[in-house]
Amino acid sequence: MGATPYIENGLLDRSVFSDPDIYRREMEHVFGTSWLFVAHDSMLKNPGDYITTWMGEDPVIVSRDRNNEIRVLLNTCRHRGNRVCLFDRGNTDGFICSYHGWRYDVDGRLASVPYRKGAYLDELDLSKWGLVPAPRVATHGGLIFASWSQTGLGLDATLGDAAWYLDNLVLDQHGSGIDFVQGHYGYRVKGNWKIIAENFAGDHYHTGVTHRSSFVLGLMPSGGNEQVQDPYGPFEVSFPNGHGIGGVKTGEATYRRDLEAAAKVGDEDLVRIATRYVNDRYARMKKAMADIQDMPYGCSHGTIFPNFLFSGGSNALRSTGFYILHPKGALETEVWQWFAVDRELPAELRELLIQSNRSNGQSASGLFAQDDAENFERVTEVSIGVQARRVPLHLQMTLEHEGNWPGHEEWRVNGLPGLVGPHFSEHAQRGMYSYWASLVGR
Ligand code: FES
Ligand code: FE
Repeated sequence: MGATPYIENGLLDRSVFSDPDIYRREMEHVFGTSWLFVAHDSMLKNPGDYITTWMGEDPVIVSRDRNNEIRVLLNTCRHRGNRVCLFDRGNTDGFICSYHGWRYDVDGRLASVPYRKGAYLDELDLSKWGLVPAPRVATHGGLIFASWSQTGLGLDATLGDAAWYLDNLVLDQHGSGIDFVQGHYGYRVKGNWKIIAENFAGDHYHTGVTHRSSFVLGLMPSGGNEQVQDPYGPFEVSFPNGHGIGGVKTGEATYRRDLEAAAKVGDEDLVRIATRYVNDRYARMKKAMADIQDMPYGCSHGTIFPNFLFSGGSNALRSTGFYILHPKGALETEVWQWFAVDRELPAELRELLIQSNRSNGQSASGLFAQDDAENFERVTEVSIGVQARRVPLHLQMTLEHEGNWPGHEEWRVNGLPGLVGPHFSEHAQRGMYSYWASLVGR
C-alpha cells in the first residue's frame, strides 16, 4: 500500500491480521509501550492481594504490597525463568518459585534463596535480583494500567476525552465507583486481536445482522439499528490514540425504557428499589453533566486502545462487561471477561444485573460473544491466503463525510467530546488502525 503503512484512504491491508513479522512488531511497539489495563482496584483490596494476568505475551503479577502500593511485576523468576506465581488470584506474603525455591516479597524484592551460603558462598546480592517491575503504573477511576515504557504520555493524557465517557457513563454512575464481580470468564478465539478491538471500538453496523437472532427472539431491544440516523443516537465516537466508544445515546428514551423495565423486575418491593435506583442514578448523572447541553444517558461498547474493552453501559439495569484481549500469536486471542456493578447498587438488584448480562449480553454464556467469534475467526482465517491478502478490506463507510456528516445539524450532541459520528460509520475503525499503524511501523 502507499505512504501510510497498512491503511490508506479507508483501505486496510489484511496482512495485519496474520503476518508473523507484523505481530512481532506490534508486541514490541504496541503492547510493549502502550498503557495496558491490568486490574481493577476492587480486585486488590488488602495488602498481599494479587492477581496474575498478561501484558501482551508477558505474564505479570499485579499485587498490593505492605505499603498499599500497587506493583506490576514480570512473572518470571530471575534465576532460570520459571513463572513464580501459578495462580489466578489470592492473598500471600510472598511468591516462591517452584523450581529451586527463590522467594520474592509481594513488592517483588528477592527475599531469600535456598542454601544461600552453600550454593552461592554468601556472595549473591539479593537486592539486584528482584522481579522486574513495569516502570509505570497508574490508575483512572479504579482501573489500573501499566506500561513497559519509561517515557511517553501519561495515562490521563493517553485516555484523553475517552475518559469523559468512561467517568460519566461507565465507571462512576453513582459517585462511588464500581466493583468487579470476583473471577473472570476466559475463552479462546482463533482470531486476531485487532478484529475484536475494532469491533468494540465502533461497529454498530454489524449488530442488526450478526446478532439478529437476539432481536428476533425479543431478548434485546432493537439495538438502535434503524436505517435513518436518529437525532438522539446511537452515535459512534472516535478519539486520538486509537480509542472508540459507541452506542452513545442522548435524550430520555433510554431512561424511560429503564423505568419500564424497573416496573417489571419482580414483586412490589423490588420494583420500588429498582425504580429508585434508576431515578437516583439519572439524577446523579444529570448533576455530574450539568454543563453538557445534550447529556448522554449511556453508551453500549468501547475500546480503550489497544486491548481493553467494555460493553453494556447503555442502561441502568444491566451490569457492565469488561474484557481484556490477550494475543496468543497473530491468529489466536484469549478473551478475559468480568462483570462489574455500581458500588452503590442495592444488594437486591446485584444478581439481576449480573444475570441480565451473563445470559443474553456480550458474554461467553450469552449469544453475542459467540455470534461475533464466528465472524472474527473467519476474517482471520481468510487473511492467511496468498490471494486474499492481495485484496484490501473496505473501511470507507462515510469516509468522504467524516466530521461533516449529512444531517449532523439535527443531532442532539452539543457538548459531547470526541469525533462524534453516526451509528453507521467506520471512522472509529479508521482512527484505531491509523494510530496502530503509527506505532507499529514498517
Ligand atoms: Fe526460579 Fe530457579 S528458576 S528458583
Ligand atoms: Fe457483536
